[in-house]
Amino acid sequence: MEFFSSEPLEFIKGTLRNPAAVGSIFPSSKYLSREFTRYVRMDEDDVVVELGPGTGPITEHLYDWLDSPGDQYVGIETDAGYVDVLRERFPEMTFEQGSAADTLEFLNAHDVEPERVKLIASALPFATLPDPVQDEIYEDIDRLMTPGTWFRTVQLAHAWPMESARRFRGRMERRFGQMERSRLVVRNLPPAYVLTWRG
Ligand SMILES: C[S@@+](CC[C@H](N)C(=O)[O-])C[C@H]1O[C@@H](n2cnc3c(N)ncnc32)[C@H](O)[C@@H]1O
Repeated sequence: MEFFSSEPLEFIKGTLRNPAAVGSIFPSSKYLSREFTRYVRMDEDDVVVELGPGTGPITEHLYDWLDSPGDQYVGIETDAGYVDVLRERFPEMTFEQGSAADTLEFLNAHDVEPERVKLIASALPFATLPDPVQDEIYEDIDRLMTPGTWFRTVQLAHAWPMESARRFRGRMERRFGQMERSRLVVRNLPPAYVLTWRG
């Protein structure tokens, strides 16, 4: 985590603007961010969709990891203040201000067919999102989960046994099958897992 950059401060400002939507106090660490791309192989035409990039800790890793971040990335973030930060930090990359519930429309606007999405990287606080928003996001994930697609999301370790988190995992497993859990990433505040479902 870059304690000497302005990112944690910008992130906390967003948490104060909308605590339930942000769902965390600290941005993801680089150690957690790396778990998002483990074992994923991208072809030239493949695209990453990031849901809820915040101030961009995972985006920064994706920027370094992608061959062509300007052509292979779409980020969707509700918070307009975060979107300003993202556009300033990563001018080459594409960010849409809006809800992940409208992912398909945003991709369509950029001529990205669902089959091109190789990785959906989410740090959305699913457990605290209202049910109708969750439902719409699941619908879009469903459309994007073609064979070979990876869906990855953060699960804070302390929240693992909570009812809302169990409900989320149960819902995902019913829809997308068995989940894989990463090692526990202790170099993250708070420690967390990355959960994976495959298309
Ligand atoms: C836990 S923060 C994660 C931020 C960053 N990706 C990280 O890992 O530190 C969740 C992010 O999801 C965004 N968010 C919440 N609901 C959203 C929605 N329906 N569509 C898109 N972004 C959303 C919040 O504004 C916030 O930036």
